[in-house]
Amino acid sequence: MQRLSGKTCVITGAARGIGSAIARRFRAEGADVIVTDRDEAGGSALAAEIGASFIRLDVGEEGDWLRLAALVPRLDVMVNNAGVTGFEDGPVRHDPEHARLEDWRAVHRVNLDGTFLGCRYAIGAMKAAGSGSIINISSRSGMVGIPAAAAYAASKAAIRNHTKTVALYCAEQGWKIRCNSIHPGAILTPMWEPMLGDGPGREARMAALVADTPLRRFGMPEEVAAVAAMLASDEATYVTGAELHVDGGLLAGSAATPG
Ligand SMILES: NC(=O)c1ccc[n+]([C@@H]2O[C@H](COP(=O)([O-])OP(=O)(O)OC[C@H]3O[C@@H](n4cnc5c(N)ncnc54)[C@H](O)[C@@H]3O)[C@@H](O)[C@H]2O)c1
Repeated sequence: MQRLSGKTCVITGAARGIGSAIARRFRAEGADVIVTDRDEAGGSALAAEIGASFIRLDVGEEGDWLRLAALVPRLDVMVNNAGVTGFEDGPVRHDPEHARLEDWRAVHRVNLDGTFLGCRYAIGAMKAAGSGSIINISSRSGMVGIPAAAAYAASKAAIRNHTKTVALYCAEQGWKIRCNSIHPGAILTPMWEPMLGDGPGREARMAALVADTPLRRFGMPEEVAAVAAMLASDEATYVTGAELHVDGGLLAGSAATPG
């Protein structure tokens, strides 16, 4: 299927994981894809492999966005995917009592500032045509509290809310610029590696992490990319301000669900 032919799409954090799966899927759907990441080696290798362009972009750096706007002034689809947990370099205390302000800010700089700057750039690059699709990758963690990952949860909740603000703002202006959030559950990407580790306990740790997921497995990045492709396409022209859960049913129930 070529649902994205003729569409110029920018994806952040696309060197690996969910972002790279979205880049691959969008190319397969006929899009002109611009892979961006702060990881130059990974991003340019993926771009060369799939026939996309690569532009280095740290989503928290306003100057990088201004440079992108000069290089790509017109846009159809923006995917704000780059995100960090704060645990990339090992365990850090992120509970509300002990989290350090610098660690809190480092997570928000990427997840929330990055999404704000990405939405702002996208609106500017879409408004001449008056149409486009902005897709913000939030998380199931934006829907619930997480005592050990306060900054991540707060940043993802803020992305959910900002998505709705952007959707309403664009509608108010009379533009057909849609903005939606995707809320993945546990998706098997390199983000999980520090928590899963190697060795004999890996399978058991994976099983434990999805024990409460109704579908009883990790999701795959391609399963998130499929939903992003739908939101990017003209099949979703009446979908804006929405939140789509791609979480194996995790948020469908709660401890209040009768057994
Ligand atoms: N994997 C999951 O289970 C899961 C669940 C819910 C939400 N998410 C969200 O999906 C998105 C992608 O996650 P993933 O699992 O593919 O992660 P990942 O760690 O595998 O990949 C993240 C990518 O973002 C890039 N990145 C990090 N900081 C950046 C910055 N400042 N500027 C530009 N690029 C930067 C990294 O270089 C990397 O290529 C994130 O927003 C994440 O929060 C993931």
